Amino acid sequence: MTAETLLYLISDDDITRALRDDVRTGLTGSPKVLPPRWFYDARGSELFEEITRLPEYYPTRAERAILTERATEIAAVTRAKTLVELGSGSSDKTRLLLDALSRIGELGAFVPLDVSASALEQSTVDIATAYPGISVRGVVGDFTRHLSALPAGGKRLVAFLGGTIGNLVPAERAAFLHEVRAELDPGEWLLVGTDLVKSPHVLVPAYDDAAGVTADFNRNVLRVINRELGADFDPDGFQHVAVWDARHEWIEMRLRASRPYRVTVRALDLTVDFADGEELRTEISAKFHPDGVKAELAAAGFTTTHRWTDSYGRFLVTLAQAG
Ligand code: AVJ
Repeated sequence: MTAETLLYLISDDDITRALRDDVRTGLTGSPKVLPPRWFYDARGSELFEEITRLPEYYPTRAERAILTERATEIAAVTRAKTLVELGSGSSDKTRLLLDALSRIGELGAFVPLDVSASALEQSTVDIATAYPGISVRGVVGDFTRHLSALPAGGKRLVAFLGGTIGNLVPAERAAFLHEVRAELDPGEWLLVGTDLVKSPHVLVPAYDDAAGVTADFNRNVLRVINRELGADFDPDGFQHVAVWDARHEWIEMRLRASRPYRVTVRALDLTVDFADGEELRTEISAKFHPDGVKAELAAAGFTTTHRWTDSYGRFLVTLAQAG
């Protein structure tokens, strides 16, 4: 028997309201910004999956290599009864953890949390079918807001993979890690994947691939705003830009207007002017040093017990315990 359920902590209305707020705030401020979560409609999620297969985009392969090698150890150390995955998306690499935890024989539940209801509806059914012995309780929610609604009980392992924590600026990361810590009981676990600082000659192409998939992914946010808020962005009129900010140690993705534009956002009754060459920031993707991750975790009340990199030293997976 498979048992899978979905809990909706945010409705479509909440999501539209959040999009309106982000677009109004982000497009009327200076510089113009949009949060990266709006990339991920069905098309954006597919484009991201395509990015993970690009030759230039190493993080997914590097993290998968680490988890392939270490999942058994992670399972043996944590002996988790519940696996919680934040920002789970397709839950693809998570299967490595589910397999290893299943072999220990104590895993009872998988709780993926994601803002994308469509991604969760698919992945909860897939996982529940593949792992008939465990209950799958998907939560449609925002990992920066809905942690306190996660089911308690059993020894939990919270996985936050893919380097998604890098989408948060340092102050947001600190707040987020404190919230995760507050949600956990002492002795429970957090597993975090972080991309590492390396040469811009490697980093920049990972966010500006030769085939133009990342450019298409970046422009997708404009299509989302056109569709959801009745805007009239010309996505082809915006150039994809990926820059390495050496001071902050993060990659910034931007969209640069290739001529002056006046954009109307009907649902907001808003008109936005772009100067020729004006840039809209759509994402930061912070890169880390292993000791920096350890220090941020410690500041939030976690003790790092294990950390692993791939054989090229490109990506880091840290296992930490709530103190
Ligand atoms: C899914 C947030 C980890 O920052 O590398 C990929 C998203 N953006 N290419 C990342 C992304 C451009 C990705 N994360």
